[in-house]
Amino acid sequence: MNHYWNQRFAEAEFAYGEAPHISLAEQFCTPGSGRVLCLAEGQGRNAAYLAGLGYNVTALDFSEVGLQRAQELAARSGVTIHTLQADLSAYVFDPEAWDGIVSIFGHLPAPLRARVNAQLHGALKPGGWLQLVGYHPKQLEYGTGGPQELSMLYTVDGLKAELGPGWTYDVAELVERELEEGPYHRGMSAFVHILARSQQPVTSNQPL
Ligand SMILES: C[S@@+](CC[C@H](N)C(=O)[O-])C[C@H]1O[C@@H](n2cnc3c(N)ncnc32)[C@H](O)[C@@H]1O
Repeated sequence: MNHYWNQRFAEAEFAYGEAPHISLAEQFCTPGSGRVLCLAEGQGRNAAYLAGLGYNVTALDFSEVGLQRAQELAARSGVTIHTLQADLSAYVFDPEAWDGIVSIFGHLPAPLRARVNAQLHGALKPGGWLQLVGYHPKQLEYGTGGPQELSMLYTVDGLKAELGPGWTYDVAELVERELEEGPYHRGMSAFVHILARSQQPVTSNQPL
């Protein structure tokens, strides 16, 4: 599988473009700070964008070619990003390490996706945020990008169940709109968009 991604990311044109995914750009358009982890970040378009806003960004992916292109894009954009080559099937998240986690079109086999999603709350600092975007089964009708395997696609309720308790959802919706993201995401598309905050732990003032 890594070979598949390395080949795609070795093509001359950036597979999903050099601009950030539209839902990310619309939500994050002012300067920000904090440590952000971009999961399955490929060629780094979202990571470079967030670094440009002031975030301290780490792009994680198992494709070394993808991460080389991510560093190339960051250098061209005049920003610094950290890259971490890791396979999510073996990756252990440090607890409360991140202010934000971004996962854009990081489609994984369903059991692995569930395992990764279940760890995201614990990996965020209390009050940290998560932006998650992935194609919905309706995307199979549009045929404009993404996996063809139904079990790798996302629904709002399915994702919420995998993420577990302890979230406040600012956005949790099915979006249908045109995408123009490089040669592989092009045309009318159906994807789930989630923007959530990990809830602060409840502190009790009650005497014990
Ligand atoms: C569709 S691309 C999305 C890239 C990027 N997030 C974007 O929006 O441009 C999916 C990415 O998932 C990565 N990936 C797939 N399985 C992975 C795994 N087990 N561990 C780490 N990365 C993985 C691939 O290498 C690829 O970069």
